[in-house]
Amino acid sequence: MFKRLAKVLAVSAACLAAVPAAAQEPLKVGMVLEMSGGFADFGMQMMNGARAYMKVHGDTVAGRKVQLIVKDTTGVPDVAKRVAQELVTNDKVDFLAGFGLTPSALAVASLATEAKKPMIIMNAATSIITTRSPYIARVSFTLPQVTAPLATWAIRNGITKVYTLVSDFGPGIDAETQFKKTFTAAGGQIVGEVRTPMRNPEFAPFLQRMKDARPQAVFVFLPAGEQAVGFMKGFAERELDKAGIKLIATGDVTEDGVIEAMGDAPLGVITTQHYSVAHDSPQNRTFLKAYAEVAGTAQRANFMAVGAWDGMAAIYEVARRLGGKIDGDKAMEVLKGMKIDSPRGPVVIDPATRDPIETIYVRRVERLKDGKLYNVEFDQFPNVRDPTR
Ligand code: PHB
Repeated sequence: MFKRLAKVLAVSAACLAAVPAAAQEPLKVGMVLEMSGGFADFGMQMMNGARAYMKVHGDTVAGRKVQLIVKDTTGVPDVAKRVAQELVTNDKVDFLAGFGLTPSALAVASLATEAKKPMIIMNAATSIITTRSPYIARVSFTLPQVTAPLATWAIRNGITKVYTLVSDFGPGIDAETQFKKTFTAAGGQIVGEVRTPMRNPEFAPFLQRMKDARPQAVFVFLPAGEQAVGFMKGFAERELDKAGIKLIATGDVTEDGVIEAMGDAPLGVITTQHYSVAHDSPQNRTFLKAYAEVAGTAQRANFMAVGAWDGMAAIYEVARRLGGKIDGDKAMEVLKGMKIDSPRGPVVIDPATRDPIETIYVRRVERLKDGKLYNVEFDQFPNVRDPTR
């Protein structure tokens, strides 16, 4: 009897060992994304960036089939919190990921801590986010990280009087604060500043005020997408450019996904950022090809799609290094110091802050031979960290 049982057990053990890897529980990535509302482009870019990664690198890692579970925050932090809770409790995800908007990332941080879930920030770019939970790692950027190099570039290029305009929430306030700090420390003067509402801003009155103040340049941060298109058109219509006022901005304002909708208005605008579609590298060509295959060619990829691609690269690497068994604490140890061979160039996750260290490029908007607008990189600041940490 015992002998028989022992034999049965031995056989079942052998069967277990022989279970094909892909038959294990899927590796679940809970994507908390803006899929509707005024920021719906963010979710679309990020979902397609993640899908493009899986198309090139396969949908199985460390013997587990990768499953993306996408939930819509509608752009509202309370909804982000609720859907993240569902992902943890009902779907039992291995990772939380996504997060286009800072308020959504902040709303979910405490949940990541309670549940010990690694939370991969693929865009949201206010500095403090990674301080809100030891389970957060960011693969994208921070606003101070891209803004400090722009202020330095402006001073080096003879710009000394600037008017600032930023969107009135986390990333905008970070951008404004850092621009003022770096610019005034180097002798620059801020001649006016304005914060515009996060949702549905009306730019006309602000543009007129800025024109009347006669600065040498206007510094702008607005969330990527529709708002940036509206601002750029207003800037040209009110003829600030003709009045000799330069526009310098973070790359959000001339992002690749919507720049074609801006007509000639952005030509010559100088921006700093971590990613441009025009970045010339084999990694970027692979990314763009895969992105077009999963998303079509109606809208180009932007930095948010790259953030999602790189976030998936980080998740795959964690899975490989942990042999497919995801433990929150061990995952964070793997993420600290991780190197990512990104379409934007090399990225390292700073082990001290869990924020990316990367090259920030200075770009000028140009129309290239194919007749389309691009952010053409012409200078760079290597190994930039968030300067506030
Ligand atoms: C953010 O909410 O952190 C954010 C939103 C839009 C951007 C960049 C950052 O373009």
